[in-house]
Amino acid sequence: MRILIFLSLCSVFACQQNEPPTVDLTTGFELLSPDKSISATFLLSPEGKLSYTLQGNDSLASEQRVFIEPSNLGFSVSEVGEITSGLSVANVTSREGLEAYDLPWGEVAAVEAPFNEVKITLNHDATKVTFAVTARLFDDGLGLRYTYLAVPGKDSLQLLEELTEFRVAGDPLVNWGPGDWNSYENPVELTKLSKINAKKYDDRAQLISRVIPNNAVMTPATMRLDDGTHLSIHEAALIDFPEMTLEVMKGAEYSSPAFRSTLAGTARRKAKAVRKLPFSGPWRTISVEKRAIDFLDNMLVLNLNEPNKLGDIDWFEPMTYAGVWWEMHLGVGTWDYAGGQSTNTMMEVGQTGKESRHAARTENVKRYIDFCAENKIGGLLVEGWNTGWEVWLDPKEREDVFDFVTPYPDYDLEEIVRYGKEKGVQLIMHHETSASVEQYEKQQDTAFALMQRLGIHAVKTGYVGNILPEGEYHHGQYMSRHFRNTFEKAAEYQIAVNPHEPIKQTGERRTLPNAISAEAAKGMEYNSNGNLDGVNPPSHLPSMVYTRCLAGPFDYTPGIFRLDLEEYRGPNKGIGSTLAKQLAAYVVVFAPVQMVADLPEHYKENGEYHPAMEYIRKMATNWDDTYPLAGELGDYAVVARKARGEERYFIGGIAGDEDREVTVSLDFLPSGKTYELTLYSDAEDAHYQTNRTAFALKNTFVKSTDSLTVNMKKAGGFAGVIQFGMEQE
Ligand code: NOJ
Ligand code: CA
Repeated sequence: MRILIFLSLCSVFACQQNEPPTVDLTTGFELLSPDKSISATFLLSPEGKLSYTLQGNDSLASEQRVFIEPSNLGFSVSEVGEITSGLSVANVTSREGLEAYDLPWGEVAAVEAPFNEVKITLNHDATKVTFAVTARLFDDGLGLRYTYLAVPGKDSLQLLEELTEFRVAGDPLVNWGPGDWNSYENPVELTKLSKINAKKYDDRAQLISRVIPNNAVMTPATMRLDDGTHLSIHEAALIDFPEMTLEVMKGAEYSSPAFRSTLAGTARRKAKAVRKLPFSGPWRTISVEKRAIDFLDNMLVLNLNEPNKLGDIDWFEPMTYAGVWWEMHLGVGTWDYAGGQSTNTMMEVGQTGKESRHAARTENVKRYIDFCAENKIGGLLVEGWNTGWEVWLDPKEREDVFDFVTPYPDYDLEEIVRYGKEKGVQLIMHHETSASVEQYEKQQDTAFALMQRLGIHAVKTGYVGNILPEGEYHHGQYMSRHFRNTFEKAAEYQIAVNPHEPIKQTGERRTLPNAISAEAAKGMEYNSNGNLDGVNPPSHLPSMVYTRCLAGPFDYTPGIFRLDLEEYRGPNKGIGSTLAKQLAAYVVVFAPVQMVADLPEHYKENGEYHPAMEYIRKMATNWDDTYPLAGELGDYAVVARKARGEERYFIGGIAGDEDREVTVSLDFLPSGKTYELTLYSDAEDAHYQTNRTAFALKNTFVKSTDSLTVNMKKAGGFAGVIQFGMEQE
């Protein structure tokens, strides 16, 4: 469909800040991106509805390509009603700007992103509600936000709903997960927008209820339009506000299926957000890329967050880390002291005396520290170290089971910290809160002070169960506030936070770089039951790349080498992945902390470390640059990255449901130099169910003018290190 773009009365730069409104929005105002490749048009209809469009201005195409058809903006307010029509424009200002910043850690070292901005201030004539819409257009996407200015007679806003439409052109193919108010640990699908059925995942019987009241999807939701352009819709700077999900809209009003925002709610009150006026809500972001893989270095979401408030945070080092963790998931060890709580028995509250043993015992943890030291693994997470795990899921007792400072009697915390220091391995603290949020907030100062005294600079937190106070959801305003406060408070103690079961990331790491990573999706742990046809199908990780991973660093916890789980789970049980794919995940999935998740003994064969361990020893987790190479939604992904401050490159590819041969250019390498490539790929006879660990190790010399062809098996992949080798000397 082609839409008419009206010429504005004044060009973008003619209307300067604070001048009286010379823009007539009733004829349309076009905001161009700095390189003019995309534009957004704002229009006030005769009924006083404000809409926007987004389109591409490909100079080669004869017509503009429409990405988002005219889409209405608005919201609804308690006791006031819908603020969607009857609007008049009070003021319009525009400006050009530049976001230029360094990242203390990240997928790139520095960002420079110019933008053009328009801010439209509006009156709702009937109710006298006033608000503004700000649009910031970069060359690779649009950010839109509401600033709620005034509601007559009120000093705070009771927001019932936000009604931002995203009338994406046609019926695109969408990589989507359900818009669950409580959990992102759901399957991610690839279907046409019109075929989305998110509510089938609603399941209140789970330990964390799956609450999906609408046929809505989570963000990032990423789609391919009919013309091949890709859009990814998400949000930026989600602060003290419920998350946005995208409801599927169909029917007479819509020329084709569309999305509209619907916020996560709370059962404790009708309004989904309550805030003191005036305030600005989060940015709604629409990233635009030609190829799906190009989102991997799209910085729109970071661009729309405030600058770094913490500075260098040199107390946090990007690193690989191991965990006293997978053994609980395999049922070998337990979280609790008495030896009852592993994943196998987790739901049986108070279980004791099973054959498993408490994992966080001093001598066992020292064994892990030795393993880390031998393999250049910088950190160690120890779960189940503190008292309370006997009853952590007990509906009556979980409110205040953990204090985060009292170790079990067989765990000598101070000695472990000392031993770790001696071996050059940092301890990563674990705070499982059992979703008892108020309790955790009360304990935080004490808990963080202990960490500070011991020189522990990172914590993995967890929020298993439905949120206490009852009626709140993991993705509502209450938890948005909690996570922000937690990052801020932790920073005061020089602590970096990596939460599990959090609200999604929206670029807060730019402002608070101690927000280092998050799980917030189905991670490796879902594979521990060994059900091959189970929860994480071959397409899961490729789907993560184009959805979850676009929100921020993902603590996926890869690196399982013992993929066959017969010993633990019985005949034909295992993980649906090849070994090469496990290695590839370190490059393809970005995070500054990457777990080496398997049991130490699983990295050895006949007393010797597995040859692929060399790759893990070399692995970087912080980058100067990211080079998206090839990929398709939910299908496969190939990316290369340059290690931060080093002339070393890593390349990785992951495959989903099909065997796939890929050929990629190595032109991301500096020209005129020869490097050695060490490539770990699926062996000819590798198979994700029957021959997982069969891999090929190859060394070759490569230059920027070369290309690389690799065969990935279904649920397989490849990983390579590119650095100076012998030929150079
Ligand atoms: C559930 C999480 O999914 C798992 O990774 C963690 O080990 C336990 N909670 C304990 O926090
Ligand atoms: Ca549509």
